[in-house]
Order: sequence, then structure tokens, then C-alpha cells
Amino acid sequence: GGSGQFVGQLQAAPVSLPLLPGKPATTFWAYNGQIPGPAIVAWEGDEVNIAFANKLQQPSTIHWHGMPVPAEQDGNPHNPVLPGQQQAYRFRLPPGSAASYWYHPHPHGHTAQQAYMGLAGVFVVKSRHDPLAHLPEQWLVLSDLKLDAHGQIADSSAADRHDGREGQFVLVNGGWQPVIALAEGERQRWRIWNASSARIMKLALPAHEVQLVGTDGGLIGAPRHIDTLLLSPGERAEIVVTGRFATGQPSALQALPYNRGKAMSPEQAATLTLATIRQAGSKATATLPDKLRDITALGEPAVKRVVNFSENMANPAAMFLINGKKFDMNRVDFSGKVGQIEEWDIVSQAHMDHPFHIHGTQFQVIARTDDGVWQTEPFLAWRDVVNIPAGETVRLRFVQSMPGLRMFHCHILEHEDAGMMAMLDVR
Ligand code: C2O
Ligand code: CU
Ligand code: CU
Repeated sequence: GGSGQFVGQLQAAPVSLPLLPGKPATTFWAYNGQIPGPAIVAWEGDEVNIAFANKLQQPSTIHWHGMPVPAEQDGNPHNPVLPGQQQAYRFRLPPGSAASYWYHPHPHGHTAQQAYMGLAGVFVVKSRHDPLAHLPEQWLVLSDLKLDAHGQIADSSAADRHDGREGQFVLVNGGWQPVIALAEGERQRWRIWNASSARIMKLALPAHEVQLVGTDGGLIGAPRHIDTLLLSPGERAEIVVTGRFATGQPSALQALPYNRGKAMSPEQAATLTLATIRQAGSKATATLPDKLRDITALGEPAVKRVVNFSENMANPAAMFLINGKKFDMNRVDFSGKVGQIEEWDIVSQAHMDHPFHIHGTQFQVIARTDDGVWQTEPFLAWRDVVNIPAGETVRLRFVQSMPGLRMFHCHILEHEDAGMMAMLDVR
């Protein structure tokens, strides 16, 4: 680690941008006028100091998604930044925290709207001992844009609020279907963020060779060959792509159809092209180390808990529930201890998939059910989002290293706003 400093400013304000060719300018809400917001890059060991100014007409906060920051610096709904106000966020990036994080608003009841209006950005923490530092990088932030007939961001419909909002356009870095240059044989490291409100993306890169090298909390132990990558809202992955331009195969980053159990709107039936990949000559293939990082399995838990995700279609005022309850800012759902190993079973009694997320730490998935049958997790990884498919259970372990209130919730932002969120008080 170093002892550097990262100082920055983020201002949330309306901005008019012509994002799509041939369409009128669209009014977004953006950090520093950019969609996505400015990419923040800092180093392990850095002291981060970010001044946030809220120029919106509603309260906001900045949540440092996935990052080990003190609870009172984490943009909890309990700490709103009112319209016209400012707040300084301060935290230190501990050793071992190198990973692809992101930041987005987390005000009570307004998170989904502020995110779909455009407020989100990436935060990459780098390590000075990065085994993949020799590879060129592409950063891909995937988001959904839903426009009305006038080219403006549409309000959410009842179906959007129930199923989670998707749009006509899946954007990559705020643009539609960009072109990515890759050489035959070239190895590139891609960091991918699913910053959409609700779309679960089953990503594929036909023809090219793909290895998973990292998850939400940074590198995994060793590269793993993959054919598809399921990325739920809020989730990130790092992959190494090796250019293989086989003739007759589409050279594109695709989102394959995925059925997430929506009740009121059709599932994504077609394969979407998110970006096209253009061959830019050929290159010598860089080495990919066999070993990336040591990840130690968390030991036996001191506490075991069950978290039930359920839907109550009969009650519009409390439809999305955790352990039978809707979120209450003044209710502590669980009390935990700093340094204590927790094991949670996230049980779905729902008809839709709901991606689980917890603040302040990374977890290890231990096992999960597939059609109700327990399967041990095949490899260790640090994550902060895991999809809970309808009717299944995921078992995970984590440790919180700092005291304070930590939210856990479904990362379909419409569900979070509707109350599918609860609190762990760490003492
Ligand atoms: Cu990405 Cu509580 O959120
Ligand atoms: Cu978070
Ligand atoms: Cu949900």
C-alpha cells in the first residue's frame, strides 16, 4: 500500500445530452455532467476525500458500493444530503481492497429514480502488486435507458415498479453499441459493471476466448475458462478476452435471453448486441499467470442466520419483503459483532430472481441450491452481490470489520425502494 491521497468533487445535477445519434437531447441527472459519472481511480492505501454537492430537487447520498468504508461515510439512507447541500466523504482504502467498485445514490425511496436518471460511476482501486497489470484494459459500464416518445427518460410504469425497470437501450459507457478494437491473439482485461436497475445479463462473446479472473471484490485465485457470464444488477466481473476472429461467428459482446421470472412484462427474448468487436490486426499473446491471488476460506461461523426473500402480490403497500417485513429505517433487523464470522442462508420464496447485496464487506458463497439440490461452490471468490434465483437458496459467509449500520437488500432498485431491504447493526 501507499500513502497517497485521492481528492475529488462530485456534483449531482440535471444535464441535457445527445446520447443517441439522430435523437433529440435527453435530460439526465448526472455526476459532473457525465454519463456514466467520472471514473475514480485510486490505490490501495490511499486516503479518499470526495466533496459531494447535491444540485437535485430531492435528497441524495453517495453509496460506495462494495467498498470497505465506515458506515457513516457509506451514503446510508440515514444520512441524506438535502437539495443544495454538500457533504465530504472520507475513507481509507485498506491493503487488499483492489477491485472494481462503483458509486451510486442511496436516498430513502429515490434510489431507483436517481440511478435510472443517470447517477452512477465506477471506482477502481488498484494494487501495486497486480499480476495482470501488463494487460491493456477495457472498462464497460452496462446500463439500461428507457425513453418515452419524446426522447426523454420515461417515468416508471406499474410493471417497471413490480418487475424492475428495463429500457429499450442497453448502453455501454453511456453509448449505444460502441465498437471495441481487439487484435487476433491479443489479450485484454475487461472490467464489466452491471449498473442497470434490474436487467440480469447473461453475457457472451462468441468465438473469442474468455477467462474469468475477478469478481466484485477483486481477483479470484486462478483464471477460469467460461462460455457465458451471468451478471446481475450491481454485480461486476473481470475477464480476460483473447481475440479469436473465427469466420462466420458474430464478433460482439452479447446479452443472451434470460428468464428472471417477471410477472407483468415480457422477458428478454432476443439476443442483444451490446458492443461490436472489430479486428485490429494481430498481436502476440501476452502471458496469463496460472495463479492470481491467495483467497483464504472463511472458517466456521459464530452466527448463522436466515434471510427470506418473498413477494406478497396481494399487498401493494408491502409487496417485496425480507423475513416478512418491509424496510424500516428505524428498525434493526440483526445485531452483529465486528470480526465475527457470519453465515447467512438467503432463501428465495419468490417467483422472481432477486440479487442479494450487503454493504460494508465482501462475502464468500459457500454453497447454493440448483433446483433445490445443494451444490458446493466450485471456487473461492469475494463478492458483494449474488443472484438468488426464484425458489433457490444461497449460503454465504462474511465478516464485518467496522461497526455501524449496514443495509442489505435486493439490488433490483425498484424492489429496494419498495422495501426489500433490512439492516444489520454491527457493534
Ligand atoms: Cu449498490 Cu445498497 O447498493
Ligand atoms: Cu452497496
Ligand atoms: Cu428484487
